[in-house]
Amino acid sequence: MKILKIKAREILDSRGIPTIEADVWTKIGIGRASVPSGKSRGKYEAVELRDNEKRFLGKGVLKAVANINGVIARNLVGIDCRKQSRIDNKLIKLDGTENKSRLGANAILAVSIATARIGALASGKELYEYLGKGKKLPIPCFNIINGGKHAGNNLAFQEYMIIPIRFPCFKDRLQAGSEIYYTLKKILEKKYGKKAINVGDEGGFAPPLAKVEMPLKLLFQAIKEAGYENKVKIGLDCAANEFFKNGRYIIDNKSFTTNQLIDFYVELTNKYPIISIEDPFAQDEFKAFAALRKKIGKEVMIVGDDLLATNPKRIKKAIKLKSCSCLLLKPNQIGTVTEAINAGKLAKKAGWKIMISHRSGETNDPFIADLAVALEAEFIKAGAPCRGERLAKYNRLLRIEEKI
Ligand code: PGA
Ligand code: ZN
Repeated sequence: MKILKIKAREILDSRGIPTIEADVWTKIGIGRASVPSGKSRGKYEAVELRDNEKRFLGKGVLKAVANINGVIARNLVGIDCRKQSRIDNKLIKLDGTENKSRLGANAILAVSIATARIGALASGKELYEYLGKGKKLPIPCFNIINGGKHAGNNLAFQEYMIIPIRFPCFKDRLQAGSEIYYTLKKILEKKYGKKAINVGDEGGFAPPLAKVEMPLKLLFQAIKEAGYENKVKIGLDCAANEFFKNGRYIIDNKSFTTNQLIDFYVELTNKYPIISIEDPFAQDEFKAFAALRKKIGKEVMIVGDDLLATNPKRIKKAIKLKSCSCLLLKPNQIGTVTEAINAGKLAKKAGWKIMISHRSGETNDPFIADLAVALEAEFIKAGAPCRGERLAKYNRLLRIEEKI
């Protein structure tokens, strides 16, 4: 089942910004994959190679495409597509840098996922079966109010998620997510008018609110009105790196020290049914994460995104310092399927939970749904239950649930 040919192209993502799609050819067919792109990117992520030329305002990816069609294709043609770790190791070697800056993590990941897809087909397996032994569906975390860099409002916190925990199956969780989403829409329109129901990059509403507490009130109200009190909880992605300025955190026009912010989070978790907080502090604040975990870690999951960047070195450091209790796993932060799976295993071994994540700029590729099942990740976040590129993941999970 040798790789015969690899061909990549520039396509556009959900924001209309260029990204990569790669096709890996074998005699039984083509494995195709495309990769997402983040906006609130951490500085420890693998490098997304962009052209920085005039076309697409610098955002073109023709250099990365050329890397796939040239050096990567030349080196992978002839290898059995079912040898995923061998192929990923070869990609890592070909790049030769610590952060995949030579060939681009976007180029490398597109090929890595496309290979996995055709490898699964060649093995007569579904992708999730091919990647792991998992048989459990993740709990979806629906981001239904958008702030931060993802929305045209002044909310400091980036994501307000609803997490349907007490349900027998994924299908029912998705239904609850959709019903709460539309209940919230009604509440928002009634309270603030039509301007409040525009949506942000991840399909959540982006109401013109300025105080970070208000969306929590609205979410709680929507959960109750939809009839899901006690069954659906709340999660936050503060993406605090984005409001960290000169050693202070700027929220609602107020300036917080780390300790003041810890107290604020404690207050919010006492008032609202919050069970998860992602990136409560800036991307180098391992100790602040640990201090918060110590205070509220029994009831609330502390999730590391920009802090960890799906990077084994940073995950190990956070395990040692007890900074987190959940890994946010974004394949494009690290760059290959094998490394993404290994990052998940590392977190699991430490007793952490895993939340598999999309990016704010997405394509219709549902790879993360399969990855979540393969790893038996407890959670997945793929945005609101709205917009095609978000539903591509949730609908894939519906199909997987039918099979297992
Ligand atoms: P991003 O946001 O994809 O824009 O980085 C997602 C997140 O911070 O979790
Ligand atoms: Zn995040």
